[in-house]
Amino acid sequence: MKIGIISSGNMGRSLGILWAEQGHQVFFGARTSEKAKAVAEFAGHGTQGGTNDEAATFGDVLLYTVRGVHPAGVLSSIDVLTGKILIDPNNFEIPEDFDYPPILKSLAETLAEEVPNARVVKAFNTIPLEVFELAPEPLKDYNVSVFVAADDPMAKQTVMQLAQELGFSPIDSGTLRNARLIEGLADLERFLLIHQKMGAYAVPSFNILPPAQTQRLGGRQPSALN
Ligand SMILES: NC(=O)c1ccc[n+]([C@@H]2O[C@H](COP(=O)([O-])OP(=O)(O)OC[C@H]3O[C@@H](n4cnc5c(N)ncnc54)[C@H](OP(=O)(O)O)[C@@H]3O)[C@@H](O)[C@H]2O)c1
Repeated sequence: MKIGIISSGNMGRSLGILWAEQGHQVFFGARTSEKAKAVAEFAGHGTQGGTNDEAATFGDVLLYTVRGVHPAGVLSSIDVLTGKILIDPNNFEIPEDFDYPPILKSLAETLAEEVPNARVVKAFNTIPLEVFELAPEPLKDYNVSVFVAADDPMAKQTVMQLAQELGFSPIDSGTLRNARLIEGLADLERFLLIHQKMGAYAVPSFNILPPAQTQRLGGRQPSALN
C-alpha cells in the first residue's frame, strides 16, 4: 500500500516507520522537504521524504497528524485528497487542570467537513506514542484496542487491517460520529496516564470474557428505568 504521512512529527514518524517495516511504501511529508527527508533517512526501509503536497499525492492512504489545522492550510490544494483514505489520529489539546469540555463535534467530523471528498477514518488517537515502540512484537500478545470509526466501510476495513498488521486489536466502532466517543475516551486516558500518573504504557483494551456458567445474581432483568 502507498502511505503518505502529512506532517512527520512523533505520530507520523512512528506510524510511518512501522508501516514501512511491514513492507508498505511510505512517503513522509513536512512543511520543509529537508525535515521530511531527514525523517525518511532515519526511518530507512526505502521510505521517501518531501513536502506535505508530495506525500498527499503519493499515498492512497494518508495519515493526517496536524491537529486543528484545516488541510487547505497545509496543502496547496485539497483536491489531491479526493477519494483517499485520511486517517485522523488527533486529539484536542489538554485543557488546564484536565477540565475537558464535552465534545459536541469531534476533530474527525470537522476534518471530514473540511475535505468532504476524502474518506476520513478515526484511529490510533488512544495509543500513546511510547506504545508504538512495542509494535508489532510483543504488542500483539496484549490485546491493545484501536478504535476505528468511519462512514466509508471499505476505508474503515483498510485501516483496521493496517492496525492489525502492527499488532493492535482493531475494534469496529461504527460511523465517524462516534469519533466523539473515541476522542472522549482519549481524554479520559490522558487524565489517567498523566494526571493520575498511570504512565504511558497504560492503554484501553476491550476484552470479551467467557459467559458466566451460572446466574446466581439473578441475571439481567427488564429495567424499570426509561
Ligand atoms: N504523541 C502522542 O502520544 C499522541 C498519541 C495519540 C494521539 N496523538 C495526537 O496526534 C497528533 C499529532 O501528535 P504528535 O505527537 O505527532 O505531534 P508533533 O510531534 O508535534 O507533530 C505534529 C506535526 O504537526 C506539524 N504542524 C504543526 N503545525 C502545523 C501547521 N500549522 N501546518 C502544518 N503542519 C503543522 C509539525 O510539522 P512539521 O514537521 O512540518 O514541522 C509537526 O511535525 C495530535 O493531535 C495528538 O493529540 C498524539
